[in-house]
Amino acid sequence: MCPPKTTLPIDSRFDVEFADSMARYETYNKHHYRPNTYLHKWWGRRCGSTFRLILKGLVEEPAQQSYYAPGGLEGKVILDPMMGGGTTLHEAIRLGASVIGVDVDPIPVLQARATLTDRSLPALKTGFAHFFEGLSESVSACFRTHCPVCDEQVPLWYALYGLRRRCACGDVLVVDSLIIRHEPDGTVLRWCERCGEICTDTSHICHGVGPRLVEKGQDRCEVCGERLQDEPDTPFYRRYEMLAVAGHCAEHGLFHKSPDGRDLDSVRGANERRAELSLRVEEFCVVPGDKSIQLLNRGIDNYLDLFSSRQLIYLSEAARLLPDDDPVLRLNLALLVSTALEFNSMLCGFKGVKKRRAGAVRHTFSHHGYSFPYTALENNPVYPRRASGTLQKLFHSRIVRGLTWAREPLERVVPDAQARFVPITGELDMGTEVRSAESLFPSVRNFFLIQGSSVQLPVPTAGIDAVVTDPPYFDSIQYGDLSAFFRVWLRRFLPDAADWDYAQKSAAVNSERDTMADHYVELMTAIFRECRRVLKPDSGRLIFTFHHWQPRAWAALSIALYDAGFVLLNRYVVHAENPMSVHISKMRALTHDAILILAARERVHETRWKSDISPFDPESYRFTHRCATMLGWILDQPGLSPSEIEKFWNSSLHGDEFSGTLDGPLAD
Ligand SMILES: C[S@@+](CC[C@H](N)C(=O)[O-])C[C@H]1O[C@@H](n2cnc3c(N)ncnc32)[C@H](O)[C@@H]1O
Repeated sequence: MCPPKTTLPIDSRFDVEFADSMARYETYNKHHYRPNTYLHKWWGRRCGSTFRLILKGLVEEPAQQSYYAPGGLEGKVILDPMMGGGTTLHEAIRLGASVIGVDVDPIPVLQARATLTDRSLPALKTGFAHFFEGLSESVSACFRTHCPVCDEQVPLWYALYGLRRRCACGDVLVVDSLIIRHEPDGTVLRWCERCGEICTDTSHICHGVGPRLVEKGQDRCEVCGERLQDEPDTPFYRRYEMLAVAGHCAEHGLFHKSPDGRDLDSVRGANERRAELSLRVEEFCVVPGDKSIQLLNRGIDNYLDLFSSRQLIYLSEAARLLPDDDPVLRLNLALLVSTALEFNSMLCGFKGVKKRRAGAVRHTFSHHGYSFPYTALENNPVYPRRASGTLQKLFHSRIVRGLTWAREPLERVVPDAQARFVPITGELDMGTEVRSAESLFPSVRNFFLIQGSSVQLPVPTAGIDAVVTDPPYFDSIQYGDLSAFFRVWLRRFLPDAADWDYAQKSAAVNSERDTMADHYVELMTAIFRECRRVLKPDSGRLIFTFHHWQPRAWAALSIALYDAGFVLLNRYVVHAENPMSVHISKMRALTHDAILILAARERVHETRWKSDISPFDPESYRFTHRCATMLGWILDQPGLSPSEIEKFWNSSLHGDEFSGTLDGPLAD
């Protein structure tokens, strides 16, 4: 290979083994490893440790090249044109770089602003305490219950509901499992299927009065034999009936009980107040999209219907009580209430059955789409304890812990089996926001955030040291469509903070329902061209991660890079996904990312990638490695047409023999 005039460490070396071992820990619990990057829900986040290693590959000063050495990118400018959850920005700022972050969707921009801006922890704590107190005063009366032993009134922790279905016999309630909980003393708490009462195996005398219960999977009534029918015309939140209430009594501890009249009255009372709430229904309409179609297919055409009336009362009060006098505080609290939506809707499930249970709430987006629980969990967002999905819990884990960590970032020491973390003294995971690319200089850790499409950037030509990003993986995640679940509320909490009506079609995400890849190719080509324009000619690198099973995804990516005039200098394949993650477990998912190192074609006189003719191999690492090699080979070929590129991929990834020789110039 005739390397570009300026070579960088990452052009020829990357510690894959180290990256893998770090990623295997981090993918297990990313929040834990990068708490300051996870204020708000976003999808498809990459490992912070992997991107730190990538950025360390741009460090020229040998003394600062080690993963555990602080800094190394002072004076450099790193651009992430598709920043999403902001992994690149956080990692680059820690290394002293100034950064530009772009995203079409407002949530990534607001989150990056909130988490990269230095803010006073005491002021945040005081502000949150005041906000929480006001909320508790105005809504906690809706979330109360009574201890089944002493009848003491206590805060409701959560309520469990069964999904109502009908047959000729009448209503039945469907639940995930008749078992509610394995108690520490070995008893099993369950629902009686004949009357719905909560009982333990030994304690119940059934009077046969009350709702019949069946477990999911039983689609027909055992009595009349009819198929159990859903109620698509009933508003979603009313399709469920309360079957259990959980709370904690200071004297008698944690309890799960069947709802009493007062518990049911509290729901009825809230339902009566629902229509009076100052929520403009038209602002919450579901706009059809690849994932929101799942809602519309179930007769859900308004996001308000996904919340119980108590949850809506809380949200409407939260919007009223957000502080007006402190924009930083308002931004942080608005994002907190928004991200808490994922744990406080009637789309939440119950994961408290298992003996080993990490928190009760199965959050709304445990999959990259909508799933509809049988046993729905109505959480109490103002529950005074740090329980799963409550404001107290999220404030401490997402804001307090995030900000504390940002002041002294920690890194895990591998290969120590024992989880040992060391501070990277001198690094700060925050910076100063500037309003233009020109204002990024001369100091370090400045950040410039842009909401918009990266097909055109307000950034001078040839001024960027590296573009480090992670584009949408073709059609894998429908970001804009999914984030509407949050945007409809955030636009209410922060009306002037963003362009809430941005054009969805400006997102470089291919629709799952679209057989053609044109949309993705067109936008990715324009984005890559813009990257080439802004990159420094010789030393500029375009670096991003990618994986996909489908040949048309790789073909679309190749065509875009080819047209934008990039060649592949090198590629590394690293672990990227925890195979046990709910959204991919039991699916034949790829768990590796290819890290692609590219430079402008005219700057690289020759690379000699050779096509990889090895037989089709579905093993994640080898498959991804082969695709990245193929990409290198294709970008080397002169005068290829898009259809020829598609043909190469279609023939290659379907295992058909493919002519050519076999070795990479950098074959490892
Ligand atoms: C895979 S995500 C990035 C995730 C990020 N690397 C992380 O670790 O959190 C890709 C992002 O590209 C954004 N995007 C899609 N089309 C875009 C465009 N035309 N301009 C800017 N951003 C775009 C999406 O909204 C999404 O947030």
